[in-house]
Amino acid sequence: MCGIFGYVGRQRSDLSSLLLRKLSKLDYRGYDSAGIAVLHKKHFQIRKSVGEVNDLKSKLRGIKISGAVGIGHTRWATHGGVSVKNAHPHKDCSGNIVVVHNGIVENFEVLKKDLLKKGHRFTSDTDTEVFAHLVEEESKSKNFLKAVRDSFKKLKGLNAIVVANNDGELVGLKRGSPLVLGVKGEEKFISSDTPLLSDITSRIFIIEEDEGIYINNDVVKTITLGSDKKSVPKFRIIKINQNKVEKKGFKHYLLKEIYEQPQVVMNIADNNKQNIMETARMIKDAWGTYFTACGTAAHAGLAATYMFSEIAERHVNFSFGSEFPYYEDFLVERSLLIAASQSGETMDTLEAVRAAKRHGSKVLALVNVPGSSLERISDKTLYLNAGPERAVLSTKAYIAKLSLFLLISYSMLGEYEKGVSLLRRSARSLKRIFNVEYQRKLKRLSKRLMNKDHIYIIGRGLNYPTALEGALKIKEASYIHAEGFAGGELKHGVIALVEKGTPCICIVAEDRAKEAILSNAMELKSRGAEIIGISPKKYNVFDFHLEVEDVSTASPIVNIVPMQLMAYYITILKDLNPDKPRNLAKSVTVK
Ligand code: F6R
Repeated sequence: MCGIFGYVGRQRSDLSSLLLRKLSKLDYRGYDSAGIAVLHKKHFQIRKSVGEVNDLKSKLRGIKISGAVGIGHTRWATHGGVSVKNAHPHKDCSGNIVVVHNGIVENFEVLKKDLLKKGHRFTSDTDTEVFAHLVEEESKSKNFLKAVRDSFKKLKGLNAIVVANNDGELVGLKRGSPLVLGVKGEEKFISSDTPLLSDITSRIFIIEEDEGIYINNDVVKTITLGSDKKSVPKFRIIKINQNKVEKKGFKHYLLKEIYEQPQVVMNIADNNKQNIMETARMIKDAWGTYFTACGTAAHAGLAATYMFSEIAERHVNFSFGSEFPYYEDFLVERSLLIAASQSGETMDTLEAVRAAKRHGSKVLALVNVPGSSLERISDKTLYLNAGPERAVLSTKAYIAKLSLFLLISYSMLGEYEKGVSLLRRSARSLKRIFNVEYQRKLKRLSKRLMNKDHIYIIGRGLNYPTALEGALKIKEASYIHAEGFAGGELKHGVIALVEKGTPCICIVAEDRAKEAILSNAMELKSRGAEIIGISPKKYNVFDFHLEVEDVSTASPIVNIVPMQLMAYYITILKDLNPDKPRNLAKSVTVK
C-alpha cells in the first residue's frame, strides 16, 4: 500500500507533471490522498490533495513546478485519517527535509514523544512525519546520509522510506517494503514499483533488505544500514511488457476483467504442462504442504484444500498469510509452502514465506505480476498469466489460481488431461454466462438486491470457499453486508438473523454436497428467506434461479462468476465506482 516515486536529475521545467504522471500509475496502491514535493530554488513546494491522483492533477491544472529533485506519494491511510494534513510528503520543522513512506512505524508514539520533548512541532497525525523530525534532529551532529541511516535504524516495523533535503540529496531505505532504483543518463528514479521504472529505463537496481541508495546530482551509491560502506549499484536489465491496459470498450476494468476469464482459463489449460508436472512432484516429495494467501487469494487457497482432498486424495493445510507466523512451528526443511498472490507484494503473504524460509522449507509461488517480491524470494513460480488486473476487486486472478490448483490436483492423480478438459469445458460454459439474456436476468436480480441490508451465501465442500468469495465481491464493491457460510453452519447460530425477505444465495453443485445444501436452503426458506439458487438444475426451493453448467470438480470456477457480475451490477445501480471501492487498495503492503 502507498506508492512512492522520486526523481533526481536535470532541471525540468515541469517536474510536477512528471511526478503526477508517474503517481497516477500508483493509484492502485492507495487512493486516499496524493502529494508531491518539488525542490524549487532551494525550497520545497509541496502540493497535496485528498482522493485519487486525478484530484491532485485537477487542483494543479495549469501549474508547472520546475526543479531537479522531487518526490511523490499515493496514500492508503494507516495512521491518521484521510485528510490533506495527513497526506504525504511530510516535512520537518524547517521544511528543508521531506519524506514519503510505505509501511508502518510501529514505535512512532515513543519516538514522537521524545521529539516533542526536544521541541519539534508536528503538523499531522501520521507515523511518517516522525521520520522527517528524526532526520532533522540527527542532522544536528552528522551529515544527511548518516542522519537518515541512523534515523531508519530507530524505526520498528517494515518500512520503505524516501527522504530528500534542500541540498538536493535523496536517500531511500527499505526493510520489508519494496524499493527500486532506475537510472537513465543523468536522471535517477526511485519507486515502490519496478514496472513504473521499467517504463523509463531497463537499468534497474532492486534494493535489498536493510539496504538503500544515496543520490545527489553527481553520484548514485548503494548503502547498507549496518555500515558506512557505499558502492556502485549493480544494475540488472529488466524489461517488462508495458502493454497499455485499456478498458477495450468496457465501462469499467472490473467488467472487462470478469469477461476476460474464459480466455484466462483456456490459457492455463493450454500452457502449463511441464510446470504443473514439476509442481506435482514437489508436492509429492514434500513432507507436508501448506497453502497461504490473503483475501480473494486465500479463498482460492482454501478451495485448493478441497480440490486436493477430493481429486488427489491428498491432505494439505491452509492458513491466512497473516495467521501463518503463529502456525509455522512444525515446518521442517522438507515442508512445502505454496503462496498465492495476484500482486506478489502482499505483506502478510510475504511474511509467511519469510517464516517458511527461516525453517529452510521450500516455497512455491503462484503470482500474476512478474518480477514481484514474492517471485524473487520463492524457489519456484507458477505464473497466473491472467494479464494486468486493474480493478481493485480480484476476479480473473482468482479464477486463474483455481484453474492451476485444479490442474495440479489432477496431475497428482496422473490425470493431467482430465483437468485440461474440465478447464476447457469451464471456459466454454463461462462464455454462456455472458450472453445478453443472462445479463438482463442478473441486472433484474441486482435491482432487487440493491436496497437490501444483508445477503447470506451458502455453499458446501468445494463451493464453501465460493460462498466466501461471492460474499467478499458483493460487500467490497456494493457496501452491502454479505456473508458466506458453510451450508451446515447457519443453523448453529446465524439463522437467527434470517427473516422474511432476507436474500440467501445457495450454491448447489451436482456433487455429493447437493442433497445437504438443498436441505439447508429449505431450512432458510422456512424462515422466510428468499432463495437465489446458482446451480445446473432448477429446484423448487429456489425463488430465483441462475443456471450454470455442471463442470464437475471445476464447479468453483464457474459458480463464482454470476456473483462477480451481481457485485458489479449492484455497484453500478448504486452509482458507486466498481474499480476503486472506498478504503481499499490493490496491493496491500502493510501487515
Ligand atoms: C479482493 C481482493 C483482495 C486480494 C488480497 C490479496 O477482491 O482483491 O482480497 O485478493 O488483498 O492480494 P494479492 O492476491 O495481491 O496477494
